[in-house]
Amino acid sequence: MAKNNGNWGINTRLAHSGNDPRDFFGFVNPPVVHASTVLYPDAATMNSRGQKYTYGTHGTPTSDALAAAIDELEGSAGTIIVPSGLAAVTVPLLAFAAAGDHVLVVDSIYRPTRHFCDTMLKRMGVDIEYYEPRIGAGIKALFRPNTKIVFTESPASNTYEVQDIPAISKEAHAIGAVVMMDNTWATPLYLRPLDHGVDISIHAATKYPGGHSDVLLGTVSANEACWPQLLAGFDALGCCAGPNDVYQVLRGLRTMGVRLEHHGKNALEIARWLETQAGIARVLHPALPSHPDHTLWKRDFSGASGVFSIVLAGGGQKQAHAFLDALKIFGLGYSWGGYESLAVPVFLGDRTIAKGPYEGPLIRLQIGLEDIEDLKADLMAGLTAALEA
Ligand SMILES: Cc1ncc(COP(=O)(O)O)c(C=O)c1O
Repeated sequence: MAKNNGNWGINTRLAHSGNDPRDFFGFVNPPVVHASTVLYPDAATMNSRGQKYTYGTHGTPTSDALAAAIDELEGSAGTIIVPSGLAAVTVPLLAFAAAGDHVLVVDSIYRPTRHFCDTMLKRMGVDIEYYEPRIGAGIKALFRPNTKIVFTESPASNTYEVQDIPAISKEAHAIGAVVMMDNTWATPLYLRPLDHGVDISIHAATKYPGGHSDVLLGTVSANEACWPQLLAGFDALGCCAGPNDVYQVLRGLRTMGVRLEHHGKNALEIARWLETQAGIARVLHPALPSHPDHTLWKRDFSGASGVFSIVLAGGGQKQAHAFLDALKIFGLGYSWGGYESLAVPVFLGDRTIAKGPYEGPLIRLQIGLEDIEDLKADLMAGLTAALEA
């Protein structure tokens, strides 16, 4: 790795962090190391585990390259690489939660995170409580003597409420609780959670870091205080990622800055345009001045990615389906962050607090890298179909 003098811009860092080409004969990219067994030179070294690599599950030059690149982006003490974004949620929770603990989770959380909390964590004897995303320092009122973790995600999945992360972190730290944040939407380019008081930053690297809808991966990055426990949990669980997938994400990271800028620009222009269209009640995008949390978003985030939601002006499932079925460029699929545009109906039936009311059905849009006029025409066809349904 060329030496970062601390002043490099984000795209320079994305291009040069992680591996040092001189470690592998000058080849620009690191090798994809397929490994279970690692050989030791002699019995004494084996006995003391006295070498850098010891076993495939504990890391390879490929996973180290990605972890080092993510550490540089996050400002973290250490990063683990796991096989999916959902594993990046479940592994830190398993590493830190114990029977009898009280864990606070934002109500607007990614749905499978909620499912994990409500099933496996509950079964393990962990008490889960959901909180209102705009609670801020008011979270203090929910603390109990056994509150050990606050799990946040901001902006919210699908409805994009923005949380006051510094205020929540400050209160959580006052009682010794660990703050975890799913930061997939912003990526470390637009928000570095650890700079805002978060202890553990979580990413579905499947999304923008991968960027091509062809790989699943997760990263979890911790500050100095939480790193040993996170690493111990990861080692105990043995859920390391395959080398090809790790390599794919490192490859994606190199271009993430330019892709994200384009996603963000396209998405904001389309969001602004949608606000003026018939058939739309509201656009839920925190970078829009009309968004109720816009000021908070501007305070903490340095940019917006390409995913947001629209609320149709009335109607129900029939209108939502008419909208979705009329789309030709936007695909109907869930995993966002790739180069292509997507649309999905939003389900809020599992929420207990942050569930509206909304004027009509919600549809989440991921704005891809296609030409903006083509995307607008496609969305216009959807809106027309919904109005006629
Ligand atoms: C906010 C958020 N976190 C985590 C995940 C899980 O990522 P993966 O699909 O890699 O399991 C997703 C996937 O959609 C997500 O939107």
